[in-house]
Amino acid sequence: MEENRHVAVVDFGSQYTQLIVRRVRELGFFAKLYALEEFGELGKPGAIILSGGPRSTSEEDAPDIDFGRLQDYAVPVLGICYGMQLLNIKFGGNVEASDHREYGPAVLVPESREGLFEGISQESQVWMSHSDTVRELAEDCRVIARNQHGTPVSLQWGERCFGIQFHPEVTHSHEGLRILDNFLQHADSLQEFRIEDFKRELLEEIRERVGEKQVVCGVSGGVDSTVLAVLLKESGIRMRAIFVDHGLLRKDEGDEVRNNFRRMGVDIETVEASERFMSKLAGVTDPERKREIIGNLFIEVFWDSVGDADILAQGTLYPDVIESASNAKTKASKIKTHHNRVDRILELQEQGKVLEPLAELFKDEVRELGRSLGIEHDIVQRHPFPGPGLAVRCPGEITADRLRIIRECDAIFISRLKNHGWYEKVWQAYAALVPVKTVGVKGDERSYEFAVSLRAVVSEDAMTADWVELPYDILRETSHRILNDVPGVNRVLYDVSTKPPASIEWE
Ligand code: XMP
Repeated sequence: MEENRHVAVVDFGSQYTQLIVRRVRELGFFAKLYALEEFGELGKPGAIILSGGPRSTSEEDAPDIDFGRLQDYAVPVLGICYGMQLLNIKFGGNVEASDHREYGPAVLVPESREGLFEGISQESQVWMSHSDTVRELAEDCRVIARNQHGTPVSLQWGERCFGIQFHPEVTHSHEGLRILDNFLQHADSLQEFRIEDFKRELLEEIRERVGEKQVVCGVSGGVDSTVLAVLLKESGIRMRAIFVDHGLLRKDEGDEVRNNFRRMGVDIETVEASERFMSKLAGVTDPERKREIIGNLFIEVFWDSVGDADILAQGTLYPDVIESASNAKTKASKIKTHHNRVDRILELQEQGKVLEPLAELFKDEVRELGRSLGIEHDIVQRHPFPGPGLAVRCPGEITADRLRIIRECDAIFISRLKNHGWYEKVWQAYAALVPVKTVGVKGDERSYEFAVSLRAVVSEDAMTADWVELPYDILRETSHRILNDVPGVNRVLYDVSTKPPASIEWE
């Protein structure tokens, strides 16, 4: 299906390239990412987007395209940042290279509010990240927008070829999505993106890739691994799903996970390993060391139970994947410490034995895929929960008693959010332990007890996050319940830190 009228996004190495694909999908069109080397074989695209990139067009061996081939495609073209500068050169203009990279917000002032800028405000914020600027324009080139200083930031060649200096795909470009949509309106009969089609394609890919082999996957009860397991089951391949209980789960979570999978008809094997984890973590306070212990032990326990599976499937999502090379197709996944199952995983990756069917997707797309697989609403809408579990919410030493406090407080907080209809309005919420004993009064006695910190954030992809202005009623009710019902706590705090500079988790 891809060879017909899809949007071809050509990667020049920008960290945002995948985001362009995602935005096009968000606008309802089918997009496909191509490495630069594949430029000659884009099939039959309906529109082409040339991404930004870290290089300067003036560098020797700067990434280049066959301009004749581009014209042969005879479809609308949008060059973003590097893509625009390259088009400018190709059409006969000139680029001024600079060592200094302009990074951050700028004001977009369209010359007219039609075509690419139809419906766009007279002035709106856009996000810049570039080093080259336009010096000379080709003869038939028009400037269609400038920044607040009058510098050209958008060019048009002919009827359907555009360049923009800024990144419309990032949310900091406030009207970027509309600009992308306006561009796509210049194309003829683009193929629509439907999650159903995408799912069908994923299922085919999985069947083809796996064949008669056996796949093993780890499940945690979280959205990603659940969607992965159900997807694998749906594909009909031979699979095993393993759930390692490391003892760092939330209140009643193990039973909940087992029930959920039973409801979905997926068999899971539980490996009970709490004691092994707790004994290795005893007395350890350094956060990275804790993650390392959990990560290594997790893989050890997981691997012991895997036996001799041929392929390992992981629910890696796009934000987990940090592009190492400029070519997104040869991406090397560097997953958070916990997931970075070092040697064994790398070895398997090199042998092509790791399957990551969700690696192109963002969280909300995974949720949509989950819904289309028939996974129930409450499972699909679950907040993300980190692999190392409550360990990243328990600074300092991890003890059974500290975990009890976090579990109880978390359960109280989450149930209040659910009762008041706030659970689904936030990206993630939890209680963390503040391992400092401060003074309080209980009865007639002075008490020295721990504090807990409640955190609720909104986020689009966990890369940045903002704290949520929860109604005081909820905070008051939660705090009241915690202080009354959870022994060992005499203070409840609400975390009002954005990410960055804070992170979502506590360590
Ligand atoms: P931070 O704390 O880095 O979290 O702002 C961003 C998102 O990632 C989750 N997180 C993890 N997930 N293993 C995981 O699987 C980890 O080690 C880990 N650390 C953080 C976190 O819950 C949030 O959704």
